[in-house]
Amino acid sequence: MPLHPDPSACLATLAQALPSVALLVGPDIPARNRQDTSYLPSEPPLAVVRPDNPQDIAEAMRICAAHGIAVVPQGGLTGLAGGAHPIDGAVMISLERYSGIEEIDPAASTMTVRAGTPLEVIQRAADDAGFFIPLDLGARGSCQIGGNLGTNAGGNRVIRYGMAREMVLGLEYVLADGSLVTGLNKMIKNNAGYDLKQLFIGSEGTLGIITRAVLRMQPKPGCVNAALCGLNSYAEVVALLGAARRGLGPMLSAFEVMWPDYWHEATVTIGVRSPLAAPHGFYVLIESQGLAEDIDGPRFQSWIEARFEAGLIADAAISQSMGDVAAFWATRDACSEFGTRLGPHCAFDIGLPVAKMDDFVTACRQRLAEGIPNVLSVYYGHIGDGNLHLVALSRGAEKQPMAEISASVYETVRDFGGTISAEHGIGLLKKPYLNYTRTPEELALMRQIKAALDPQGILNPGKVFDLEESK
Ligand code: LAC
Ligand code: ZN
Repeated sequence: MPLHPDPSACLATLAQALPSVALLVGPDIPARNRQDTSYLPSEPPLAVVRPDNPQDIAEAMRICAAHGIAVVPQGGLTGLAGGAHPIDGAVMISLERYSGIEEIDPAASTMTVRAGTPLEVIQRAADDAGFFIPLDLGARGSCQIGGNLGTNAGGNRVIRYGMAREMVLGLEYVLADGSLVTGLNKMIKNNAGYDLKQLFIGSEGTLGIITRAVLRMQPKPGCVNAALCGLNSYAEVVALLGAARRGLGPMLSAFEVMWPDYWHEATVTIGVRSPLAAPHGFYVLIESQGLAEDIDGPRFQSWIEARFEAGLIADAAISQSMGDVAAFWATRDACSEFGTRLGPHCAFDIGLPVAKMDDFVTACRQRLAEGIPNVLSVYYGHIGDGNLHLVALSRGAEKQPMAEISASVYETVRDFGGTISAEHGIGLLKKPYLNYTRTPEELALMRQIKAALDPQGILNPGKVFDLEESK
C-alpha cells in the first residue's frame, strides 16, 4: 500500500492493462463524466476507465488501490444526490460499456444483467419474455441497473413490490482491493451465512462496485386500472390508503398524493390536463394491477364508486383505457419538468410517518416562509410508502439559497422523526444532515464496516459520510 498517491504511475499501469478504448484522459473525458449534479462544481478526474468485463473492472480497481488513487463508480449519472460526482484526481470507473442481458431463466423467473444496462432495456427484455420488472422511475431510459442497485432505488411501485433490494437474488461486485466476488444466486431462499449482497445494495459505491446482478422477475400484470381522486382532507387520504390496502389487496400498485400547490404547478405552469373538474384539498392517484380486465376492471371501478358513495372521495376520474392510465400519471410525472420550467430548485425525497405527513407539510411550509424570501414550495409523493417529495425555491433569486432551504427542510424532518432520504440516497448533497436521521451508534457502525472493506478509504471517498467523525 503506497504512502503517497502516484497518479502518473497509476495512469501508465492502467494504459498497459486496458485496451485504449477503455481509458479516457484529459480532453477525451466526456463532459457528462465530469459532473453528476448541477449543484456542485465540475471536478477534473484523473481518468475515466470504462471496461467491458468484470475482470478488467477488478484489474482497474486493483491498480488504483496499488497506487493509492481514489475511485468513483459511475452509472447513468441520473442520481439526485451527487453520489457519482467526480472527485479531483480520482479515476472514474464507468460501467457504460459493460451492458446487456446475460440470461433469462423462465423456470427460476430470473434475469442476469450487467451493471451498465439501462433500466428500460431490462424492462423491455422482461416484457418480451412474458415477465415484468417492477422497478420503475422517471430516468428509466438513461439510468443503469448498477446505479439503481447501488442506491437501492425506490420509484413508483414500491408499495407493491418493495425497493430495488427486494428484486435482487444474486450480485457480483469488485471490492476496494480489486478482488471480484461473484455470488450470482438464483434461489429465493438461501440462508447460508451472511446475506452479503445487501451490504453493497444502497451503499452508493462506497463499499464495492456492482458488476452483475440476478434480478427476480414478476409475472406480467394482466391489466392495469387507475383512478385520479379529489379528496377534502388529509384524514380522508389516510383513510383511503387503509381502505385501498384492504379493498384492493395485493393489486394495489401505486398510491401517489399531490398537494394543491403541486397540482397548480403541474396543471397550470406545466399545463398537464386535469381530468377533475373542481379544485380539491388533495389529489390521489391510485393504481391497481390485476389479473384479468373483465374481472378486475369492473371490480376496481365499483370499489372506487363505493368510496365515493361513502363520502371518502369527493370526485374521481376512473381509467377506461391504458391511455387514461398514462394521462393520469402525466399529472404526477409533471415534476420531471420542474427543472426546466421552475428553474434551479432544491428537491427532496424525505420519509415520514404517514399519519404526520400533512402536519409536516404545514410546518415545513411555515419554516420556509419565515427563512427564505419569496419562497415557493410544492409537495407530492409516494405517500403509500411514507415518502414525500418536495421542491422548494426562492423566486427571482439570482442564486438559490440551497443551504438555507436544506437546513429548514431537514430540521423539520428531524422534528418529525423522519428520514432525510427515503429513496435517492445521501451522496454529497445530504451528507451534512445524515446525523439528523441516524444515531451516533449507527454512524459508528457504518464507519466500522467502511474501514473493514476499504481500509485505504479510496472507494468513492467523501460520499454518504466522512471517514473521520466531524467535531
Ligand atoms: C419521483 C422521483 C423524483 O418520484 O423520485 O418523481
Ligand atoms: Zn420518488
